[in-house]
Amino acid sequence: MDTARSLLSRITEKSNQNEHLPLTNAQNPDVIDFPVPAQKHSSRKIWIFWIVLCLTIPPLVLYLSLPFIRSDTFRDFTSPFQSKPSATVNDTHPPDIDDYIPPHVTVPINQTRPSVSKDCQDLTNLTVYCIREREHAAPQHDLDLPYPEGRTGRYITFNNHFRYTGLHVPLSAYIGGPSVGEPILDTTIHGPAARSVDQQYWHQVCPPDEVVYLNVTTEQAEMGIEGDGKTEGSVLVEKWVERLSRKEERCVEIMFKTPRIFDFTLLDNPHLISIWPDFHKSPFVRDFIWSPLVHRAYSHNVHFMASLPDSWKVPELGENYTLEGLLVIAVRRGDYKGHCYLLWDAGLPFNTWDMLPELPDAYIRDAPDSPAEKAKFVKHCWPSEEEMMAKIRKAREDSGNTLKRIFMASNAELEYLEEFRENLLKDGWESVVHTLSKGIEFPTEEEALCDAMVDMEIARRAQVFIGNGFSSLTSNAVMMRLTDGKDPRTIRFW
Ligand SMILES: *[C@@H]1O[C@H](CO)[C@@H](O)[C@H](O)[C@H]1NC(C)=O
Ligand SMILES: *[C@@H]1O[C@H](CO)[C@@H](O)[C@H](O)[C@H]1NC(C)=O
Ligand SMILES: *[C@@H]1O[C@H](CO)[C@@H](O)[C@H](O)[C@H]1NC(C)=O
Ligand SMILES: *[C@@H]1O[C@H](CO)[C@@H](O)[C@H](O)[C@H]1NC(C)=O
Ligand SMILES: *[C@@H]1O[C@H](CO)[C@@H](O)[C@H](O)[C@H]1NC(C)=O
Repeated sequence: MDTARSLLSRITEKSNQNEHLPLTNAQNPDVIDFPVPAQKHSSRKIWIFWIVLCLTIPPLVLYLSLPFIRSDTFRDFTSPFQSKPSATVNDTHPPDIDDYIPPHVTVPINQTRPSVSKDCQDLTNLTVYCIREREHAAPQHDLDLPYPEGRTGRYITFNNHFRYTGLHVPLSAYIGGPSVGEPILDTTIHGPAARSVDQQYWHQVCPPDEVVYLNVTTEQAEMGIEGDGKTEGSVLVEKWVERLSRKEERCVEIMFKTPRIFDFTLLDNPHLISIWPDFHKSPFVRDFIWSPLVHRAYSHNVHFMASLPDSWKVPELGENYTLEGLLVIAVRRGDYKGHCYLLWDAGLPFNTWDMLPELPDAYIRDAPDSPAEKAKFVKHCWPSEEEMMAKIRKAREDSGNTLKRIFMASNAELEYLEEFRENLLKDGWESVVHTLSKGIEFPTEEEALCDAMVDMEIARRAQVFIGNGFSSLTSNAVMMRLTDGKDPRTIRFW
């Protein structure tokens, strides 16, 4: 998270500098302008940004370890949102490192399997406490299970990915499916597959003297992988798969504080694209579902957000459907005032799967820096209201006027959203609802954690979605729409 922290502080610094920019760039074409009222910085949306990224990374990491399943061996993934260690874990490490156990610290083997308290046996009890308890008590956390699970199984932990974000929310509060330990149902491709386990169980099943610790820097040097996104994504995966397939290494830990294998230099980089053809077929992506908590928060709000009649029944988790007549637009304001500068300065293209060439508005930034390129960039990152209105009209026309209703997912302020809404209603839309509309409610603290996921889910289900190609909220919705088999032409970017 050091990189993440410094990136965040750079974003914040940039935002502050930008308050003094001129409102037009006629005199100075080198200045990108953002001719809109200043927006208050939304700290809530900043942390949501990190959660959203975490949706891409666990499947990527798990995808990397898939060959373990194929070769009839085993893999493990520990959630980036680790819960507090329990009494079984030697708790002498510094508190800010959360549950990281340094190498060579022995955790006593606990012969008693974790159990679920009476309050939490009710699966509809979705407090974070109960979600965590049920995660710990997952049936695969049992040393006596036969291979490929249990004490003879083969495990990997990626200890260098997102960790200790300070949220202390288990990953299964947000997502379901194989990434959080549900079984991989289709064994025809990869053979019998072990289920993911949590960090506590990892310490039980892989005592330090059995763990092979891999330093990403030295391993990549040996494999001839160049860091900083210079290596083609598919080559990176192939080499790591080969490296991680040594059967004699029963427990492998990718070391803490060594570079991430899938880091920002790859996520915002056309080299990522070559991973997609296999990645989107992986069970971690294909069998992705939201958690029951996200589904509950979505179910509470979808009628209002999508302007649906009360008689419409919310489909079950995991069903494939489309909300006909609904256009979802992602209008990124707020922190993007500074973030767009950062992206431009760093020469970054669209985020992850937003770069896929089959998408109609894909934008790969490879032209040399020039005023024309900069103008094009600004249209994508911080489109004007007129540009957005034009794109929205075009989407309606292209749909043969079948689009009738809009939901706007945005981090802008209420006044801005209300004005935008009025303009859309004048433009003939039957209904327009936005993030801050009265009527969107998250009745519990837990559901309030899920607001960004609810936005992603409705963007996934809409007949047409227009997103911000630089945003990871958008790219996650894109990943889900494409995996669901939705037409790429229904995915647009500003
Ligand atoms: C073993 O785990 C159980 C259930 O999580 C816990 O109550 C117990 O205290 C643990 N025992 C030891 C020795 O850590
Ligand atoms: C925890 O680990 C530390 C350092 O390795 C050791 O000194 C201490 O005795 C351990 N505590 C327990 C309760 O096992
Ligand atoms: C749900 O679990 C919490 C513990 O997190 C408990 O306090 C509460 O009583 C439970 N609710 C029900 C309805 O069982
Ligand atoms: C990993 O290897 C590099 C290069 O040898 C070294 O500088 C670094 O300290 C190592 N990291 C850890 C966590 O051991
Ligand atoms: C989901 O439904 C659409 C439209 O009916 C269909 O084209 C697509 O193949 C389905 N996707 C999956 C994964 O079954």
